Amino acid sequence: MALLVKSNLQLRNALANLGDKVALVPTMGALHQGHISLIKLARSKVGEDGCVVVSDFVNPTQFNEEDDFSKYPRDIKSDFLVATTAGANILWTPGVKDIYPNSEIELIDAGYLGEVLEGKDRPGHFSGVVTVVSRLFELVMPKVAVFGQKDLQQVLVIKNFIRENKIPVNLAIAPTIREDSGVALSSRNNNLSENERDLARKIPIALAQGYDAAISGARIVDIREAVRDALTHPEIKIHYVELLNDQLETINNDHGWLLVAVSIGNTRLIDNSFIPLGIRN
Ligand code: PAJ
Repeated sequence: MALLVKSNLQLRNALANLGDKVALVPTMGALHQGHISLIKLARSKVGEDGCVVVSDFVNPTQFNEEDDFSKYPRDIKSDFLVATTAGANILWTPGVKDIYPNSEIELIDAGYLGEVLEGKDRPGHFSGVVTVVSRLFELVMPKVAVFGQKDLQQVLVIKNFIRENKIPVNLAIAPTIREDSGVALSSRNNNLSENERDLARKIPIALAQGYDAAISGARIVDIREAVRDALTHPEIKIHYVELLNDQLETINNDHGWLLVAVSIGNTRLIDNSFIPLGIRN
């Protein structure tokens, strides 16, 4: 049976006696195929008699701009249908007071991993993410929590937080789900005009070129250059093209991540690709 749960008390009642059979999929709603794949992965981790909880909370502490926060799409009815059709047992839609009971919110520092790349352009963003995720873990106490590789830096920040605080939760990482065009699914894609959508296709193409360059033994500078070349267009603003390791530091003959952020019009898009072999510096 599927439940729509709001308050912490309702959540506690719904989770009573489930022990270590709970998987959590944290989201901000506006659920799409990417989220659906996370829900399915969560189900595979806890089995048919386990409980998959999807949290649906637009977290105010991770937004840099009030406008972004207030304009974030919200549709709980549709999210409930999508989540439960995908196999979730509970859609949990807490209010701000459920997550942040005190008027003074104590933010957790995300450290170096939260300061670079996205963190540089969005100061405090990862502190907000790690603060809300910590609170979601406290309230749900899941055995497994599922996140998407699409937001790789978020995954690395949360992984680090779990390790440092010895939180008893297993992290499962789901691969990025893409449109047929190769563009990674994101609620932000809805903000793109048709022309901007066409331009967004350059992102997966650029990542593929970087990947091919890496596989054929190119050095890091040349790989980054290949990606930048493939993204070059007057309407695309490149924020960064980086090739970094799991600590988001310079790679030294190791595998790594090719990470890209661009803005097309007013829409910021990120994507990444894993490069599985030793990369020359
Ligand atoms: P949100 O953007 O709703 O994303 C929820 C989860 O879905 C994240 O783990 C994200 O990486 C994953 N996801 C998004 N697009 C995806 C895609 N195309 N393929 C696979 N997975 C995808 O990320 C957040 O919310 C918030 O920061 C949150 C973790 C919930 C904290 O507020």
